Amino acid sequence: MHTVELIRKKRDGQQLGSEEITWLIEQYTAGAIPDYQIASLLMAIYLRGMNERETSDLTLAMARSGEQLHVQDFVSPVIDKHSTGGVGDKVTLAVTPLVASCGVAVGKMTGRGLGHTGGTVDKLESVSGFSVEMSREDFLRLLHGHQIVLAGQSNDLAPADGKLYALRDVTGTIESIPLIASSIMSKKLAIGASHLLLDVKFGSGAFMKTIEMARQLAQTMVEIGRAAGLHTVAALTAMDQPLGCAIGNALEMVEAIDILRGEGPDDVSELCYHEASEILVMTGKASNHAEADAIVQEAIRSGAALKKLVEIVEAQGGDPRQIEHPELLPSAPVRFMVNAPQSGYIAGIEAEGIGLASMSLGAGRFKKGDPIDHRTGLILQAKVGAHLNAGDPLIEIHARNNAEAEALQAELLSCYRWSETSVTVDPLIRDVIRP
Ligand code: URA
Repeated sequence: MHTVELIRKKRDGQQLGSEEITWLIEQYTAGAIPDYQIASLLMAIYLRGMNERETSDLTLAMARSGEQLHVQDFVSPVIDKHSTGGVGDKVTLAVTPLVASCGVAVGKMTGRGLGHTGGTVDKLESVSGFSVEMSREDFLRLLHGHQIVLAGQSNDLAPADGKLYALRDVTGTIESIPLIASSIMSKKLAIGASHLLLDVKFGSGAFMKTIEMARQLAQTMVEIGRAAGLHTVAALTAMDQPLGCAIGNALEMVEAIDILRGEGPDDVSELCYHEASEILVMTGKASNHAEADAIVQEAIRSGAALKKLVEIVEAQGGDPRQIEHPELLPSAPVRFMVNAPQSGYIAGIEAEGIGLASMSLGAGRFKKGDPIDHRTGLILQAKVGAHLNAGDPLIEIHARNNAEAEALQAELLSCYRWSETSVTVDPLIRDVIRP
């Protein structure tokens, strides 16, 4: 086979065969095809698209490019969950111990934040000593012993995706549904859970700006899962304003603890409980949503869900006292309240702008490898739909120093839209795509 012929084929709108796709990924992973040819192929895929069969073939080839964990051979059912990323998204921190406390094992590899969306690893590392670095043996031991493991993304898993993603990042080929779907699903298939719950976000703070694009991405991933024997369900959820109230690593950890205590903000708590219920139904732990909701509520009420988080934090080297007493988590030296500049209803809080503001406080990375400050971030005092009077608390800045806090005020205020009349708030969960 010749790479240039395959590039021409895709460029001219033809389909690539299964063997051709497998060959391309094997050769590229082995370093036998240069980046410039694959960059050209990626642009052809971006422009011409891929059909279902090609997207599945690409995903499988990428999944097989490195280590495969086959976790369901050790514990079954075992759930994996993935969010396409948003601002203030601490759902994984709450849902994974919640479902593990209800008897569903969770084997999850999770990433660091880059850009305006946060990463679960960074949030977990705000707990002193917590480690996501582990061998395959440690991963399986934790899964067996605690029914939950929250590991960092292994570089040995789907290495073709690591190479392709880096190339897409610098060649304008990120925003392609077959490329995003195969990138996410290849890592999921390499882990080898039996069930996968996807949270596909859309809106100003998400990768997918419209629900139509999010639906197409979700359907593509559910179909890849179905074809590969991974039971996949995808929720379509709005990301127009930040999720919950806390943005920033330790601040989000505190909010996740509140959710597990039944005391979190309504929007994010409902999303977490809904996702947990969905997982109980899809894995057969509950026969319907009403039964699942009751099991979830009991895990919250009894404290079992929070106890599970304490257990896994301790098992992964973290200080469990910081979960039992969240006031012991690291906190920023400066707190600065920004007040409402006018009276009225909050009509919009631009999630991406809030995420970028939080990054500039040190809570996120502008480039890979940047250090982050776990203490800093923002706490929304009111959400879209709320009525405030001028001077009421609007958003609290948690900063390293006064200068950084004061410098951010105007930028934060520009993220808000106001209305004189009341505002309707659409539900967070817009649809659920099942196989
Ligand atoms: N997340 C991924 O893992 N891959 C993409 O292509 C986009 C988001």
